[in-house]
Amino acid sequence: MSKALVAYYTQTGNTLKVAESIYEALPGEKQINTFSEIKSLDAFDLVYIGFPIHSHNIPKQAQDFLKKVPKNKKIALFSTHGALTGSQLSREALEHATVLASGAQVLGTYTCRGRVPYSVLERLQTRPEHKAWAEMAASARNHPDATDLKEAKVFAKWVRDKAAAKK
Ligand SMILES: Cc1cc2nc3c(=O)[nH]c(=O)nc-3n(C[C@H](O)[C@H](O)[C@H](O)COP(=O)(O)O)c2cc1C
Repeated sequence: MSKALVAYYTQTGNTLKVAESIYEALPGEKQINTFSEIKSLDAFDLVYIGFPIHSHNIPKQAQDFLKKVPKNKKIALFSTHGALTGSQLSREALEHATVLASGAQVLGTYTCRGRVPYSVLERLQTRPEHKAWAEMAASARNHPDATDLKEAKVFAKWVRDKAAAKK
């Protein structure tokens, strides 16, 4: 029987909300864990991998996990970010993640916005190199919202069906 894993890293809880929605939507055998709790991916046929974007990049915990994904493993990537959905930043993070997990089969990707703590926005707004981003990120304050989480569930099932059809 096939088994799915939802693996994630979160700092302020936004990516966890998306991870839990994906987990809830999945039928059958499944598990949800942070990256640091996972020792091996051998038992899983499909792995959903989620992380936030930090300082225009993928957090180290996620980079290390992505590099260890075995060749041919079926995976799906999801991410939360303060930048607008579909922005260059969110697309580049997923492209980078795909390169890090080279050899894996990426069946789908999903991103949505995530609230940025006010203290972080305030700090970044004072730095010229981050000012524009911090201004854009301010409007992420209500995310992930109910629609984001509903879409994460649709994404989860769509990837699951795609993985089953590839057997
Ligand atoms: C220190 C820090 C740096 C961040 N840098 C970025 C960034 O470069 N680009 C971006 O779109 N969002 C950035 N964000 C926003 C987070 O990606 C967003 O809030 C995300 O949903 C956080 O996920 P988490 O709650 O799972 O940690 C940053 C947030 C923090 C706290």
